[in-house]
Amino acid sequence: MSERQPLVAANWKMNGSLESMKPLVNAIKAGLDKAKAEVAICAPYVYLPQLKQELDGSAIHTGAQNVSEHEAGAYTGEISTSMLSDIGCHYVIVGHSERRNLYAESDVLVAEKFARVQSANMLPILCLGEQLDEREAGTTETVVARQLDAVISKVGIAAFAQAVIAYEPVWAIGTGKTATKEQAQEVHAFIRQRLAQQDSTIAASIRLLYGGSVKADNASDLFSMTDVDGGLIGGASLIAEDFLAICQATR
Ligand code: 13P
Repeated sequence: MSERQPLVAANWKMNGSLESMKPLVNAIKAGLDKAKAEVAICAPYVYLPQLKQELDGSAIHTGAQNVSEHEAGAYTGEISTSMLSDIGCHYVIVGHSERRNLYAESDVLVAEKFARVQSANMLPILCLGEQLDEREAGTTETVVARQLDAVISKVGIAAFAQAVIAYEPVWAIGTGKTATKEQAQEVHAFIRQRLAQQDSTIAASIRLLYGGSVKADNASDLFSMTDVDGGLIGGASLIAEDFLAICQATR
């Protein structure tokens, strides 16, 4: 039996408005009583202060979806970790596949962001995952290992005591085509084992989330797997009823 508390994190991506946020957050807050999981909401930057205010008094954490790798200075349009920490942000997603693929974020850049988030005392949610052609070519483990190793070599294994990893196969994101529970488990076990080669305690305690078309009707199947400690939820996190069902589907 693992003692890892499940975590379900919403990633709203670039969706929502000030107006739509309030009823969504209120419904999630009201429905969460029974959830055993820790819950977080990663919202667009501009909504984070408002979100934080609306979550006041609840156990739900706020998270950002990205951050600058720089501390401060002439980086027009960027947001720093100290700004996120200023508004009480708890988690920061780094290396989401949309950042890697649409904005050409490299493994090294992702590692820099990871380090920066931790130095501001927030928790990175590090996303890893292969593209469809990489899976078809049988290189899933090579890709995931490369993405993970880049961060380990930058921050060291000990840093993973204060982090979360999300495995998000790119072909499953927003496609309605989820990984099977066996496919998810296989990669999660691989990630845990790779961490264990350097530190078995950290490997056993880190939470590994699955992301990619998690829905109310497949969540409990995915979350039933030994190494799947929750999920990073895109589309389904925009509908309170669906997100709540997913939160309640954790072990
Ligand atoms: P979907 O749940 O919409 O597939 O998105 C997954 C994701 O990218 C969460 O970060």
